[in-house]
Amino acid sequence: MKLVKLLANLGYGSRKEVQRMIRSGAVTDDTGRVLGEGELPPHGRIRVRGEELDAPSPLTIILNKPDGYTCSSEDPGDTVYDLLPPRFACRNPGLNPIGRLDKDTTGLLLLTDDGKLLHRIIHPKSHCLKVYHAILDRPLEGHEGELFASGALVLNAETKPLLPAGFEPRSEKQALITLHEGRYHQVRRMFAAAGNHVTALKRISIGGLHLPDDLEEGEWRELTPDELAAVFA
Ligand code: URA
Repeated sequence: MKLVKLLANLGYGSRKEVQRMIRSGAVTDDTGRVLGEGELPPHGRIRVRGEELDAPSPLTIILNKPDGYTCSSEDPGDTVYDLLPPRFACRNPGLNPIGRLDKDTTGLLLLTDDGKLLHRIIHPKSHCLKVYHAILDRPLEGHEGELFASGALVLNAETKPLLPAGFEPRSEKQALITLHEGRYHQVRRMFAAAGNHVTALKRISIGGLHLPDDLEEGEWRELTPDELAAVFA
């Protein structure tokens, strides 16, 4: 790959803009030597205005999603892409959420530009279980666990029953829900089917990967190889 193409794919600008950047001397190696268009040192040695290059593809990031942000770049209003460096929205291949969260759901969100990885994680056969912490409007009634585990619950406007889901009460109005699949508004609609209403929802784990305590709401970072392995553990 040529330097121009690499920088354009990482979202630093159009090919023309990147060419201009290179010609202006803004792209150097780690010794400060100005790079020409025909050069391509190892990724880790390239600097743009003195800064290390963003990570190459394949890239997977972990984000602690705050309330009020949608997961689609096309939605009006705040999106999770607003929490990332602006050039990330121009990367090619682009970053996509691994299992979207509703606008008012918070917590663990992975984004990746690796389509195969995305499908591996969301496919029910991979058994990467998603755990949600739900806060409810009304006290639990005691029948929810059986209903959700039945494999017979059909959500409103659907015909295919849900796969059995895990249920663990945490207090009178709080529970953990474990899902094998990811249907639209699934947890909220499950509780609606049980006669309750979810007032707050947070995804706390995917597979064996838990939302790290030190990742504040709105913060993100690159997923480490150990964390990725934990998703499949
Ligand atoms: N279930 C929901 O209802 N909403 C989410 O965002 C995720 C799972």
